[in-house]
Amino acid sequence: MVAVAILAAGRGTRMKSNLPKVLHSLGGQSLVERVLGSLSAVEPSRCMVIVGYRGDLVQASLRSFPGLEFVEQAKQLGTGHAIQQLLPHLQNFQGDLLVLNGDVPLLRPQTLERLLRSHQQNQNAATILTAQLPNPQGYGRVFSDSRNLLQQIVEDRDCTDAQKQNRRINAGVYCFRWPDLADVLPQLGASNDQQEYYLTDAVNYLNPVMTVDVEDYQEILGINDRKQLAAANEILQTRVKDDWMAAGVTLVSPDSITIDDTVQLQPDVVIEPHTHLRGKTSVESGSRIGPGSLVEDSQIGQDVTVLYSVVSESAIGAGTRIGPYAHLRGHVQVGTACRVGNFVELKNTSLGNHNNVAHLSYLGDATLGDQVNIGAGTITANYDGVRKHPTQIGDRTKTGSNSVLVAPVTLGNDVTIAAGSVITEDVPDSSLAIARNRQVNKTGWRLSQQD
Ligand code: UD1
Ligand code: CA
Repeated sequence: MVAVAILAAGRGTRMKSNLPKVLHSLGGQSLVERVLGSLSAVEPSRCMVIVGYRGDLVQASLRSFPGLEFVEQAKQLGTGHAIQQLLPHLQNFQGDLLVLNGDVPLLRPQTLERLLRSHQQNQNAATILTAQLPNPQGYGRVFSDSRNLLQQIVEDRDCTDAQKQNRRINAGVYCFRWPDLADVLPQLGASNDQQEYYLTDAVNYLNPVMTVDVEDYQEILGINDRKQLAAANEILQTRVKDDWMAAGVTLVSPDSITIDDTVQLQPDVVIEPHTHLRGKTSVESGSRIGPGSLVEDSQIGQDVTVLYSVVSESAIGAGTRIGPYAHLRGHVQVGTACRVGNFVELKNTSLGNHNNVAHLSYLGDATLGDQVNIGAGTITANYDGVRKHPTQIGDRTKTGSNSVLVAPVTLGNDVTIAAGSVITEDVPDSSLAIARNRQVNKTGWRLSQQD
């Protein structure tokens, strides 16, 4: 049986932030969410998150993870002290405890699986994930023999100059035989440079302890400051983009593109430069997104183009062209083969198939049928200052340029609205509505005649 503990109580002083370190965002997910994600191959019987600095915030941010237990570490006296807080919660627990630092967000699930397997096969008291780093500065150094049996762990700040030359580091990821660890936890002292209770000291008391080197050292990078956060983001982006290119997606100038790892892409999607795909976004085959676009939490069908536009919380049907310079936000649905063009904003609006909203429009809280043509500059006046109101537009209806549709209002099928109209009343099927002053021409009239 395996229980998991995630260390997430520290403030993260080096981030220079009010937000607890583990809540800082990395590619759309917080650090601690990513750590939880890395457990997908483990299936623990219990999962405990140790919280302290702004623990209520950390707890609230993890509402969507079922079955988590939160253990409070009121004062943050070190990683060993954090694990001491588990003693009353794991009194009769006989299994293994997998400990993860909340600030190590890039671990692959297979790596934790390997660590656990090695721990169990060798019947170790503890097994530590280690890595050989090109630049080990700041990490605890791990000394082990040729059979990977641990000799000692020394924190960077407690190392002699000679010890600092060792490039094998402690990843902050451990597997413990819990009853053995529970025995030594009360004996920890704090006689080190930081006067903290170190979990790494507990490891020094256990036997046998083995080290397992991670295959890709980038997985174990810990986030202590903003520079490391940026570096982790680069690593994550490279991973995600390499995977999509291998899966048949074209990325033009990949360095200028960002893709959250929650995004789904089909083969033969093309992502053009300076484009950002975020959240629960999916893009189907043959679509071309960008250049210069942001797509967030949206579903893009086949053969769609999105050019210099912002699309969020929207669903776009096959063959539709968006942009340049369109903004779709908040529950927008666009059917197939539509055109949503220059300087058009759609909000909480649904378009049928074969619609054109080509220039300079705002449609909010509107529902359109099929083959509708929205003339340049048509606007729904959907907000009376207090409430939003709906606009309905039937099939094959056309609005003239600069029409204002004052909601609530319904235009039937096959309606034509004359240019410049302010429509305040419903228009029945197959009608022409004109709602503007008739033009008056005063012939023979010149400015000079006024005096
Ligand atoms: C720790 C390890 C170090 C390792 C490195 C890997 C110790 C003593 N050192 O150092 O060997 O190389 O991680 O990234 O463990 N935390 C608490 N309560 C506390 C203190 C910390 O929950 O009282 C949490 C923090 O929120 C953080 C994690 O533990 O998520 C690690 O703490 P941090 O201070 O960053 O440890 P490092 O100095 O990086
Ligand atoms: Ca750290």
